[in-house]
Amino acid sequence: MNDKTLLEVRDLTVRFPTSDGVVQAVSEVSYTLSRGETLGVVGESGSGKSVSNLAIMGLLNRSRTAISGHVEYLGRDLLTLSPAELRKIRGKDIAMVFQDPFASLHPMYRVGDQIAEAVLAHDDVSKDSARARAVELLGHVGIPNAKSRARDYPHQFSGGMRQRAMIAMALSLSPKLIIADEPTTALDATVQAQILDLLLHLQQESGTALILITHDLGVVADIAEDVIVMYAGRAAEKASKDDIFYRPHHPYTKGLLESIPNSSAAAERLKPISGQPPSLIRLPTGCAFHPRCAYVMDRCLTEEPNLVAVGEAGAHRSACFLPARALGLSEQTEELRRRAVGEGRHAAAAEVAEAIAASPEAEGSVIA
Ligand SMILES: Nc1ncnc2c1ncn2[C@@H]1O[C@H](COP(=O)(O)OP(=O)(O)OP(=O)(O)O)[C@@H](O)[C@H]1O
Ligand code: SF4
Ligand SMILES: [Mg+2]
Repeated sequence: MNDKTLLEVRDLTVRFPTSDGVVQAVSEVSYTLSRGETLGVVGESGSGKSVSNLAIMGLLNRSRTAISGHVEYLGRDLLTLSPAELRKIRGKDIAMVFQDPFASLHPMYRVGDQIAEAVLAHDDVSKDSARARAVELLGHVGIPNAKSRARDYPHQFSGGMRQRAMIAMALSLSPKLIIADEPTTALDATVQAQILDLLLHLQQESGTALILITHDLGVVADIAEDVIVMYAGRAAEKASKDDIFYRPHHPYTKGLLESIPNSSAAAERLKPISGQPPSLIRLPTGCAFHPRCAYVMDRCLTEEPNLVAVGEAGAHRSACFLPARALGLSEQTEELRRRAVGEGRHAAAAEVAEAIAASPEAEGSVIA
């Protein structure tokens, strides 16, 4: 951990014991976030994005959840703090913006009063100053006529305005880190772009670090500096945004890129990723992505790939057995992948590959 490090997550693992079995929601996720940095966490539904951040914030029920690893925030391990100590850090130091503002805004209280309450809970100021600060913040996040709109109830706001109000609430305490979990999913494309612009602008202005969670790789394109691609609770690939977009290594990242409308990777034809995410109670053997992977090789069926350095910089890491040089989307890289698959695929993997080709919508593992 150096001076610039704000948050260091090491081997974060979250398990939910249920009557059907243990849900392996998050497995050995590690990353470091510097002050003012933006990290994008991307993956399909159920890949463990929200659970990993709820664990960091101490918002999971500890008596029904097994959490291990380390979450060091400015040198303190959040996983060892008491609920009271965590409450102090939440809001004051780390704020969250959720997908559904109704989950955080109380329907029976005026929006301005709720933001003022958040200010009062942490800062020793008068009620009038807290109210004035709420109006100022609403104006700052682009709510027109903030003074009168502060007196509205949440249902009087549009979806985009409610999301802006949530961001105002998050900013009310000048946190060092904002975790935004699918902050724009429920909004239409234009409003979505406005909210992302707002987050980016505020982040650059105040130097707040940001973790942006989304299932849409396109959303992180303009904002994030580093990206973690999650699959089945694990980090499949970790890299700078440019490496993820222009030099992807993991076939799942490649699949996500090819399924973004209007991306250069999808210029020819949109290719959705075949199959469904696996059950986290019964994960496929070997590489969890193998039942959906067009490059599946024999070893992928039995060995679990570790996250290892690929490319030259060392910071780019991928959990895939394809050669480390197989980066990018060019025909040359494709040839490299094809050669590796030719050498590494024999009868067992060939059967899986055939099943994927024959039944692209197959759910979970296609091998017994
Ligand atoms: N309290 C819980 N008990 C049991 N399983 C849970 C619990 N909370 C989450 N899960 C499971 O953990 C897995 C990861 O969930 P998570 O909410 O992190 O997914 P996500 O990546 O955020 O997905 P989405 O994009 O749909 O929000 C899912 O399979 C989910 O069903
Ligand atoms: S390890 Fe094998 S199955 Fe997994 S992503 Fe790489 S090539 Fe595909
Ligand atoms: Mg989620």
